Amino acid sequence: MNLRDQHVLITGGSSGIGLALALAVAARGARVSLVGRDPAKLASARETIRAAHPSTAVFTAPADVSRAAEINAALAAAEKTHGPVDVLVTSAGVARPGYFEEVPVEVFERTMAVNYLGTVYPLKEVVPAMRRRRHGAVVLVSSGAGLCGLFGYTPYSPSKFALRGLAESLRAELQGSGVHVMIVYPPDTDTPQLAEENRTKPVETRALTAGAGLWSAEAVARATLDGLDRKRFAVTPGLPLTALYWLQSVLAPVLRWSFDRTARRARAAAGPSAR
Ligand SMILES: NC(=O)c1ccc[n+]([C@@H]2O[C@H](COP(=O)([O-])OP(=O)(O)OC[C@H]3O[C@@H](n4cnc5c(N)ncnc54)[C@H](OP(=O)(O)O)[C@@H]3O)[C@@H](O)[C@H]2O)c1
Repeated sequence: MNLRDQHVLITGGSSGIGLALALAVAARGARVSLVGRDPAKLASARETIRAAHPSTAVFTAPADVSRAAEINAALAAAEKTHGPVDVLVTSAGVARPGYFEEVPVEVFERTMAVNYLGTVYPLKEVVPAMRRRRHGAVVLVSSGAGLCGLFGYTPYSPSKFALRGLAESLRAELQGSGVHVMIVYPPDTDTPQLAEENRTKPVETRALTAGAGLWSAEAVARATLDGLDRKRFAVTPGLPLTALYWLQSVLAPVLRWSFDRTARRARAAAGPSAR
């Protein structure tokens, strides 16, 4: 996709995968808008982009994507500055792994509110205008944990599965409209979110996710833009997640057996530190 002079708005653009994507689209001549909650993180991201690409127009707007009024106001402000959004990337997300019984119910509520509704709200704002203009793309950031339910991710996996259902339904509705729908399923990526996750991640979860390797945010951003260029619907960086995407249903019994064994071994190796 030619991104020159396109308005790319990225929720969660102040850090990690979102920031790497912002830098990558800035390198292609896009106008960039970033949304996140922390104004200091947004300011630092803007400086990072301007330092790398001095001619890039960067707009930032603080908002919590789980609050419709806040994200809608941020979108309106971004469009006032940069014009209609041509590409929306919903990268804002949270993950708090842990054993089901030990994770408070508020974490389940918050995870769904940020990861799922925090994607629905901005889509509801931009899709009608994109459809009218017969132009645009929306990129939903799911996760490998949105392809198969993983030990330790009872709040997170369902929120990322929900994005898959949303993307598949929306793709069908927007077929032929000129608006491209894409969903990305990143593997473990070296970002502040992963560092935060590692503080509460059960040993079993660590052992299971190690299989897909550790990606850099830049590599995930490259795979995402490559997918956008090729008008892919689903982007699955790396072979393990690509195999999981295509073969999940067929492989489910084998995967359950193998994952259960990995979890058992990790628990045994961890001794009393595991639950
Ligand atoms: N890292 C991984 O291993 C991995 C793997 C698969 C999928 N993912 C997904 O990739 C996406 C990006 O994750 P990341 O690893 O790049 O995380 P990150 O570096 O922690 O960045 C998360 C971004 O989301 C923003 N954010 C969080 N909650 C928000 C909210 N309620 N409202 C608005 N902005 C919010 C953060 O800014 P503020 O804190 O200032 O709000 C930040 O800009 C997430 O959806 C994540 O689930 C990550």
